[in-house]
Amino acid sequence: MTTGPRALLRRGFDRAERLLDRAFGPDWNPLAQLGPIGWFLFWIVAVTGIYLFIFFDTGVTDAYASVAWLSRDHWWHAGVARSLHRYASDLMVVVMFTHLIREWAMDRYRGSRWFSWVTGVPVIWFVYLSGITGYWLVWDKLAQYIATTTSELLDTLGIFAEPIARNFLAPDLLASRFFTLMVFLHIAIPLLLLLLMWVHIQRITEARTNPPRGLAAITLGALVVGALLSPAPLGAAADLATVPMRVDMDWFLLSLYPVIESVPAGAIWAGVVGFTVLMIGLPWLPARRDGAAAAVFLDHCNGCSRCVEDCPYAAITLVPRSDGLPFTHEVEVNPARCVACGICMGACPSSTPFRRTGNLVTGIDLPDRPLAALRAEVIRAADGTSGPGRVLTLSCAYGAAAGDAPGRVVLPCVAMAPPSLVDFIISRGLADGVAVAGCAERDCHNRLGVAWTRARFARERDPYLRARVPRERVLTVWAGPTETARLDAELAGFAERLSSMPAYENLRPLDPDEVADAEAAAAERAAG
Ligand code: HEM
Ligand code: SF4
Ligand code: SF4
Repeated sequence: MTTGPRALLRRGFDRAERLLDRAFGPDWNPLAQLGPIGWFLFWIVAVTGIYLFIFFDTGVTDAYASVAWLSRDHWWHAGVARSLHRYASDLMVVVMFTHLIREWAMDRYRGSRWFSWVTGVPVIWFVYLSGITGYWLVWDKLAQYIATTTSELLDTLGIFAEPIARNFLAPDLLASRFFTLMVFLHIAIPLLLLLLMWVHIQRITEARTNPPRGLAAITLGALVVGALLSPAPLGAAADLATVPMRVDMDWFLLSLYPVIESVPAGAIWAGVVGFTVLMIGLPWLPARRDGAAAAVFLDHCNGCSRCVEDCPYAAITLVPRSDGLPFTHEVEVNPARCVACGICMGACPSSTPFRRTGNLVTGIDLPDRPLAALRAEVIRAADGTSGPGRVLTLSCAYGAAAGDAPGRVVLPCVAMAPPSLVDFIISRGLADGVAVAGCAERDCHNRLGVAWTRARFARERDPYLRARVPRERVLTVWAGPTETARLDAELAGFAERLSSMPAYENLRPLDPDEVADAEAAAAERAAG
């Protein structure tokens, strides 16, 4: 068992998520829905922001009065909207950091998956900038504190023709034009944030940008209750003639301000640049080498596009046919995006282990672990099963069954196994039953592997698990790394049930070619 900081954190998340699974169920588990919740919060902030703008007066002298009026006289709609606007922004900070720590713990930020991480880094700053410019607009004592501290910090850059801190030295120096600029920034920065959030999910297929409705309702409900029980505070009006002594701090969006005050500006800028560079460089510190990218074999590809639809990382594209075969399309793999999860191989209709040896080539295959080698591995693994009730396990490298064990074949993702492999194992008598042990149901390491496997087995998504495969001989277990006890119990129960079943009636033992093939592969492996 690995025990580095990442593995420990991963186990910590797994335990916390198991508890939340009990309260919310795997589909609504908030820790597995942080990205979608982040999007949902953005929309709450956007809608409440537009609503507030109806009542907000953008002039420097009237801004505070308009916020005070909407918070007190119209607390039941505009005041609630203001509190929602603030609390959803605060929650976005919490969700964002939890999300990024979790993606790090799950090791989903390196190798070909670097893109979402790197594009997430400017998202952090844009969330902060959106919040800071928003606080500025209220023009109370807190806004005054932010305005003076920020402008003093910006002035240390020496890039402005006139120091901007001068605007805040005395009441009559603050120009309405400057205030209008802040209003403009508070609209432009969130729009750029939205653009960045969109870029952030461009390299993944079927990115979830909406939480399940129930979870969205719970999130919104909790925010509304918070807004009613504890409305967003409003300090006294800004007064540039005095220095604000006490302000109601927002520790989510403005937590850096006390630091800015007490640390030299040079150290602050060095910290900002250092943090950004470190975060951007993290996917390469150290880099992860994914296996060789999937390779297409056009002689076995009819351009059906199943692999395109199933690849979780948008690494495959459908392009016009180039080899003269009578199909309109073929597929192309972008090696820079491929993480070698093998899900495409499991999706291809040509991936059938029943093909005769010598022909065991499929439309799209993993060069490091081709279908032919997988079939040979499965045949060899059958030797490790013991009866009665022999179970052969196809497991995922990120779940509870990640370690090597007799009778187990560990895959980068369980969806790499074409459903026909399950049929093959049972009908060739390699085992009495097949257990497919993937990651926790709430969140697959390869994003869509659990969903595709379930849909294929339920005959809802091509390639289907054939109807002739007796379902009582197939077990699926979705379990995270801390759930080995449950996995073992489920496997033992399955073996027990299998032991009391009559022998499978459609057995067609391995043919000599298949045996020879497995032996050759084993010899090759032994020779290194
Ligand atoms: C509020 C801001 C953010 C939002 C709304 C957001 C949203 C999302 C969404 C919707 C996904 C896709 C989830 C899925 O369907 O699998 C995602 C994935 C991801 N995000 Fe974020 N994100 C935010 C900030 C960040 C930050 C700051 C980082 C890191 C610096 C980050 C790193 C990642 C990574 C590594 C993935 C996984 C990509 C993969 O599976 O290959 N995100 N995010
Ligand atoms: S192995 Fe296939 S499904 Fe997985 S990332 Fe590469 S192309 Fe996509
Ligand atoms: S699933 Fe197989 S046959 Fe279909 S397009 Fe992909 S490689 Fe070609």
